[in-house]
Amino acid sequence: MDRAPISLVLHEGAPLRLRSGLSVRVRPVGPADAEAIQAFVRRLSDASRRLRFFAPIRELAPSVLARLTESAGRPGLVLLAEAHDGETCSMVALAQYAPGEDDGTCDLALVVADAWQGLGLGRALMEMLIQSACDARCERAVVDVLRDNEAMLALARAYDFAAAWSPLGSTVLRLVRDLQGAPSADRSRISTATAPRARPVAAFATL
Ligand SMILES: CC(C)(COP(=O)(O)OP(=O)(O)OC[C@H]1O[C@@H](n2cnc3c(N)ncnc32)[C@H](O)[C@@H]1OP(=O)(O)O)[C@@H](O)C(=O)NCCC(=O)NCCS
Repeated sequence: MDRAPISLVLHEGAPLRLRSGLSVRVRPVGPADAEAIQAFVRRLSDASRRLRFFAPIRELAPSVLARLTESAGRPGLVLLAEAHDGETCSMVALAQYAPGEDDGTCDLALVVADAWQGLGLGRALMEMLIQSACDARCERAVVDVLRDNEAMLALARAYDFAAAWSPLGSTVLRLVRDLQGAPSADRSRISTATAPRARPVAAFATL
């Protein structure tokens, strides 16, 4: 996979070469992307929509769509990946981080089109989100993941997230990663006051 600097990739829409040999371009979302995002969400399988949005939705609520497409100038980042095939351009992934519920936290989320999963795109987007959040001085990244989401748990494990107390109930794991270089032994400090000590990612399966 290409390892161009993230800022260059986003600014130039430089191609990212995936494991399959196919390329995509990643760029920030703008107001003109609302229709493409909604179509992308409708095309996802029921399983992918459930894993990303935690509910059996068919499409995004207008307020959610507006938050995504009108994010320019606000803290955080919303990215989409597009595949070009001759004249045709189709959206194949959506990824974002946004300020979270407490100071210094940002919430990460991403979804890759079903036919494009397993090709390294999720990993590339995760890297972009983390790097961008680091550059924006976010102290910690949080991802909420359904317990049966093996792919996302494996991806989070690869990026050194640790499991913490989740306010979203027993079916959801809240995964946390320090972004500003505190030693991993100190990760418990980054959870909320009521949270128990964060556990190593290797313990996901047994939480
Ligand atoms: C989770 C998701 C974003 C991963 O994106 P992806 O492009 O498929 O992931 P990648 O190909 O970059 O793989 C990254 C790592 O995830 C893990 N992974 C991917 N697919 C997996 C699967 N089906 N089962 C187990 N692990 C898997 C692997 O560890 C992989 O690393 P490796 O290829 O070096 O072994 C994607 O599967 C997806 O969109 N799922 C539905 C929505 C969702 O779950 N979103 C997350 C909620 S925040």
